[in-house]
Amino acid sequence: MAKNVVIIGTQWGDEGKGKIVDWLTDSVAAVVRFQGGNNAGHTLVVGGQKTVLRLIPSGILHDGVRCFIGSGVVVSPQALFEEIEELNKAGVNVEQRLTIAPTCPLILPYHKALDHAREAAKGDKKIGTTGRGIGPAYEDKVARRAVRMIDLFNLPVLKEKLQANVALYNAQLQHLYGQEPVDFEQVYQEVAQYADRIKPLIGDVSNTLYQIHQAGGKILFEGAQGTLLDIDYGTYPFVTSSNCVAGAASAGAGVAPQMLDYVLGIVKAYTTRVGSGPFPTELFDETGKLLAERGNEFGSVTGRPRRCGWFDAPALRRSLQINGVTGLCITKLDVLDTLPEIKICTAYKLGDKTVDILPFGSDEVALCVPIYETLPGWQANTFGVQKYEDLPENARRYLQRLQELVGVPVSIVSTGPDRVQTIIIEHPFA
Ligand code: GDP
Ligand code: IMO
Ligand code: MG
Repeated sequence: MAKNVVIIGTQWGDEGKGKIVDWLTDSVAAVVRFQGGNNAGHTLVVGGQKTVLRLIPSGILHDGVRCFIGSGVVVSPQALFEEIEELNKAGVNVEQRLTIAPTCPLILPYHKALDHAREAAKGDKKIGTTGRGIGPAYEDKVARRAVRMIDLFNLPVLKEKLQANVALYNAQLQHLYGQEPVDFEQVYQEVAQYADRIKPLIGDVSNTLYQIHQAGGKILFEGAQGTLLDIDYGTYPFVTSSNCVAGAASAGAGVAPQMLDYVLGIVKAYTTRVGSGPFPTELFDETGKLLAERGNEFGSVTGRPRRCGWFDAPALRRSLQINGVTGLCITKLDVLDTLPEIKICTAYKLGDKTVDILPFGSDEVALCVPIYETLPGWQANTFGVQKYEDLPENARRYLQRLQELVGVPVSIVSTGPDRVQTIIIEHPFA
């Protein structure tokens, strides 16, 4: 029987991971974020009340469930405390239930400054990052110069590392990008000021998860972003700077791969993307606008409009293979309610070839021309439906066709943003 479940985005992010993590948290002892940072925006709606989480695991609204931030996550202390304060104001106690790995790299003001400077310099070739400093922070980690949580316990070491990093970043900011330098003293004071507040939250995430597992507790691994934004397998260079695939849960949380029993792939019933980069099934017409309006497709973090398009089976095939997805959770089915016809991309034309799986990197993806099949819409209300039998016949046909095309069964269907607006076909923890 499945005990631990990994939840990942199978498209370009914003598939509805937060809602499903919150809903599944009922069944678990712990929820862990294992990659990304506050570029994520995970929306939870409970009894009509909305909470957007960026860094804190989406299990936090359930009393008694422990939340963890694993080593694969890059943490901005400022963003962390802003989020903790927002949650405290809403009556959620975070500090007593949150543990952060000592090995997490920090996102500091110079990372954000460089992220912005680079994007501005790229002009119309920009990636469209969230501007949170994610890329530069991961670069520091790989370059072995990151300031990590553990450095907060040793202020002389912290000071030395910061001095070296500020010098490096200021050289780039000033001489490469013609921007204002960051002030070392200011950065140091800011970090040192957070140190006392962060220290009590730091703990051995990897060992604690192991102990919870040994004691029979179930664990939910919460992915951020989506597979098509993965640093290796996404539409590079229009990607984020971490691995977003299910395998990253093991390295990023510090647990053995054998502990990952079930991979739940979150799939929007259509496709969206925020930021630049190729998007074969993108719609530029009235239908695209309608999806954006009905789906309220605006970034949860940046408020930017999301680009919208039809469901893309070749992209999903790539994603499901890489992640070893056990079951699909199709979200936002209700957004399609008014459409007379719905298209599904089943393959691409790429030059004189037909391909049924997304190629790697952005250049080839940009050349993919979708081949569509058309299904009749249902033009009936599915918003809030909680039983599969209560879905209109054509909606069931659409779901059936999606699972046939990608070869993985649908386990969950989401019919609205609220926790309760969910249909279970097969519970991942059953
Ligand atoms: P995440 O990043 O994958 O957690 O997704 P986001 O929270 O960024 O974006 C998903 C958006 O869709 C949020 O505004 C959710 O409240 C909303 N949402 C989630 N599931 C459904 C659904 O089934 N139907 C509708 N209409 N909205 C949903
Ligand atoms: P969740 O977890 C959608 C996108 C950005 C940009 C690219 C790189 O809410 O699904 P970055 O700031 O990471 O360097 O930006 O990745 N991006 C997301 N798009 N959902 C997200 O997170 C995203 N996180 C990053 O828009 O195109
Ligand atoms: Mg999001």
